[in-house]
Amino acid sequence: MNWKTRRYCGSFSLDHVDACLELSGWVDTIRDHGQVLFIHLRDRSGMVQIVFDATKSPSAYADAQKLRPEYVVEIKGLVRERSADTKNHHLSTGDIEIMAETCEILSESETPPFMISEKEAGENTTTSHVDEDIRLTYRYLDLRRTSMQQNIIKRAQLIKTMRDYLDTFGFTEVETPVLTKSTPEGARDYLVPSRVHPGQFYALPQSPQLFKQLLMLSGLDRYFQIVKCFRDEDLRPNRQPEFTQLDLEASFIDESFIYELIEGLTVRLFAQEGITLQAPFTHIRYDDAMNRYGNDHPDLRFGLDMIDVTHVFKNTSYQIFKSIVGSGGTIKGLNIQGFSDKLSKSVLQEEFAKDAIQKCGGKGLSWMRMEEGRLQSNIVQFYSEEELASLIQTFKCEDGDVLVFVADKSLAKVNEVLGRFRVFLGERLKLTKPGHFTPCWVTDFPLFDYSQGKLDAVHHPFTQPAGDISGITDPKALAGIKARAYDLVINGEEVGGGSIRINRKDLQHHIFCLLGLSEADIKEKFGFFVDALSYGAPPHGGLALGVDRLVSMILQTPSIREVIAFPKNRMAYCPLTQAPSNVADKQLTELHLRTKTLQ
Ligand code: AMO
Repeated sequence: MNWKTRRYCGSFSLDHVDACLELSGWVDTIRDHGQVLFIHLRDRSGMVQIVFDATKSPSAYADAQKLRPEYVVEIKGLVRERSADTKNHHLSTGDIEIMAETCEILSESETPPFMISEKEAGENTTTSHVDEDIRLTYRYLDLRRTSMQQNIIKRAQLIKTMRDYLDTFGFTEVETPVLTKSTPEGARDYLVPSRVHPGQFYALPQSPQLFKQLLMLSGLDRYFQIVKCFRDEDLRPNRQPEFTQLDLEASFIDESFIYELIEGLTVRLFAQEGITLQAPFTHIRYDDAMNRYGNDHPDLRFGLDMIDVTHVFKNTSYQIFKSIVGSGGTIKGLNIQGFSDKLSKSVLQEEFAKDAIQKCGGKGLSWMRMEEGRLQSNIVQFYSEEELASLIQTFKCEDGDVLVFVADKSLAKVNEVLGRFRVFLGERLKLTKPGHFTPCWVTDFPLFDYSQGKLDAVHHPFTQPAGDISGITDPKALAGIKARAYDLVINGEEVGGGSIRINRKDLQHHIFCLLGLSEADIKEKFGFFVDALSYGAPPHGGLALGVDRLVSMILQTPSIREVIAFPKNRMAYCPLTQAPSNVADKQLTELHLRTKTLQ
């Protein structure tokens, strides 16, 4: 075996005809035609056809008889052009084949638990029909599949682009600690017990937020890091307990710097996969996003804007709406333009109003369709002519349109339910096209969330308020204050978030107090940080992009797990290493820990 003369399987072309070359790789497929045996040999770069001809190289042919899929072999052979009728246009090396002269088996393989050859399995996409836990148990084999290798390689290339891009803007990559103190990002911490400090714990970082701000105080000016973050939170399809951020921070900047910088980068990253994004990106204020789309991460690939029609029904005799309006509730609707033909009564009544709306967290859905200039439905007799005319005008109804309504005492509930139903409709009615991306900035978030008599930070407590809050003490008034925060949202998914930060000690201290932290808490949890702010903190701000989410979106994979080499499963478990797992009593003792046996 000579690594200096080794050729990659995917590197062969007509240029190599008549050359005698060496290559190594895994056996992908085998076809035995009697005296001639063909294999496809695979490595990271692709595949090439090897021919073992019993009449020309009897010993290579004899060795090839022993080959099985996934054996590792080294071949020496002569490159020859294939005859016109045997050229394979699906293979980059399909113009040639290699006439094997020697064949050495470097390693044998058991029969794998699932097909690795995507050619043989008939798969040519990033999806696989094999159970995901089996794929994760044998992740090293799953990663041998061509599509998974491509995902991992492309991820690395996208991360390289991030590094190169930020380098041109004068950003310095700095590593921050993994064994650290809790940084609040709204999730539970993963804790690491200390052996040398009995009873004490490090927290794995939920983000490097405090360190990157300290780097601005240090005068580093522009920082970035491709960094692992750890959050013990409820699992969702686009979440992992450990995930990667492109984290960055810059001094003496405002929001427009972040928008320009990140738009430039995002456009470049998508372009790497041939996807064109339009910049500058749309801006949507938080309140508008909530009102029109029911959430702060709107999918703008389709319309279906939600409209508040509570006022239309203020004198209604339709009992359900009447009691909602009477109790100060809200009615919102949206117009599914031109879909009347495709939405039968049973779809509207059974699938949408009974099933789908419940899955969206609602109790019911009212609907009407526009036919021959009039709104029709099973309950149309309960509405006055005035109400119907007002709906037609509000929703600009035309024949063929379908209106749907959700009503509830709570505005937040209406937004949540109709917002989810809107997303459901987008998928169900196929309003989204693959390869279509609509990025937007969501801005003007509230600084605080006020519920059950308590203020919480909507982003994190280091975000600068959009105005002066010094004289405000009423929590409800504080809940109306906006933050200098922004999220990057693409196709209904939050891919990044950040803010301009507080750089004054008194304001940071005040915010902690408003969030209900005692002096002792502030000192214990953030004393070092508040102190640091008294030593000349420049104005600064930043953002973090979710690398796994962004890469998954660019590569259009069905889940972020497809672009992470060794992800956890949906239960935050690693089927490959079987982590988390028990540890020996000795280890626990050293760490001053005892497990509590549950009765
Ligand atoms: P935030 O909490 O919004 O901001 O995180 C930034 C981005 O990280 C991604 N993300 C995740 N990806 C996968 N799995 C998870 N569990 C997960 N959680 C978050 C999302 C998200 O938009 N320190 C701030 C940034 C700042 O203010 O500069 C922060 O971490 O794509």
